[in-house]
Amino acid sequence: MSDLNLIKALRDLEREALAAISNTSALTELESLRVTYLGRSGGRISGILRGLGELSPGERPTVGQEANRVKTVVKGAIEERGRELTAHDSEGMSKEQRDITLPARGPWRGGMHPVTEAVNEIWKIFRNLGFARVRGPEADTEWYNFEALNTPLDHPAADEQDTLYLVESVLLRSHTSPVQVRTMEAHDPPIRVIAPGWVYRRDTYDATHTPAFLQVEGLVIDEGVTFVDLKATLGEFARRYWGPETQVRFRPSFFPFTEPSVEVDVKQIVSLEDGTRQETDWLEVMGAGMVDPAVLENVGYDAERYTGWAFGMGPGRLAMMRHGVGDLRRFFENDVRFLGQFAQ
Ligand code: DAH
Repeated sequence: MSDLNLIKALRDLEREALAAISNTSALTELESLRVTYLGRSGGRISGILRGLGELSPGERPTVGQEANRVKTVVKGAIEERGRELTAHDSEGMSKEQRDITLPARGPWRGGMHPVTEAVNEIWKIFRNLGFARVRGPEADTEWYNFEALNTPLDHPAADEQDTLYLVESVLLRSHTSPVQVRTMEAHDPPIRVIAPGWVYRRDTYDATHTPAFLQVEGLVIDEGVTFVDLKATLGEFARRYWGPETQVRFRPSFFPFTEPSVEVDVKQIVSLEDGTRQETDWLEVMGAGMVDPAVLENVGYDAERYTGWAFGMGPGRLAMMRHGVGDLRRFFENDVRFLGQFAQ
C-alpha cells in the first residue's frame, strides 16, 4: 500500500468511527467501539499501522503523524460521548427513553385546602350575619375547657383517656367552647362571635377521627335572645351553606354548657348528573343550645338579664360531606394527587 492509500484509509476510518460514536446510546456500546477502533492489538487503527512496514522510511513519518491525529480525535470523541451518556444516565433517561411527543407538564397551581375552604365559607356567612371572628389559646386550663363550661372534672370528657394533658390542670383544648368563656370575660354583651380553631383529643386515627381537628364555635349573648334566634340563624346558615332548599331539623340532645341542647341535622337537595334532583339522608352537622345560666354566672354575667345561644361544628366533616370524601385522613396526608383535585 502506498502512503496515500494508508492516509485515505485512516480518514475513512475516522469518519466511520465518529459516526458510530455519536450514534451510541449506552456506555457499554461506547466501550466496545473503543476496543474496535483503539484496541492495542486487534484495534482497527493499529491494523492500518501494521502496513507501515511496507512503506519506505521517508513515507513513514507522514502516515505515523496522521495515525496519531486520528487516534487523538477518536479518543477525544469517545470521552466526550461518554460524558454525555453519563449525564443522561444520571437523569434516569437515555436518548431512546426520552419521549419528546409527551405533553409538557403544566405549571403547579395552588388551591385552598378543602377544610380551610370550609372554615372560610362558614366565616363569610356568619360575617354577613353580623358575627365577629375571635380566637383563643390551644393550650388552656381545666377551668376554661371544662369547669367554667359547667362540666365537672369527674365528667367522662375530662378524663385523661380523652383529653391530652400537658401538665397538671393544663391541657390541649378538647373543643373550641373555652373561647366562649374567654370572650365573655373580655367583653360585655351584646356578643356575636365565631371562633374557628384546632382542638385535640386522645382519639385513634381512623376514617372519622383524628387527634387534632378543626372546630368552629359560635356564641350570641344579648338581652331577650331566645331559641327562636338560634333556630332562625342556624337555619339561615344552613340554607346559605347547603343551598336554599335545605331542610333543617333540631333534635334534643345534651351538652353540659347548654340547656336545652340540640343536634342540628340537614337534608340537602342535590342535582344528579342526569338532571334529576334528589334528597340526601338527614346528616348531623353541629351541636347547639341555649347557653346554660350557670355558664353566664361563671363569667360574672347577670343571668336574669342576659340569655344566649351557642353552637359548635366540625368543618372537616362539612368538607367530607361536600366533596364526598369517605376518609377524614385524606385531608391530613397532604398527597397532592388528592388535594390537586380541589385546586381550581
Ligand atoms: N363543644 C362541643 C363538642 O366539642 C360542641 C358544641 C355543642 C359546642 C353545643 C357548642 C354547643 O357551643 O352549644 O362536642
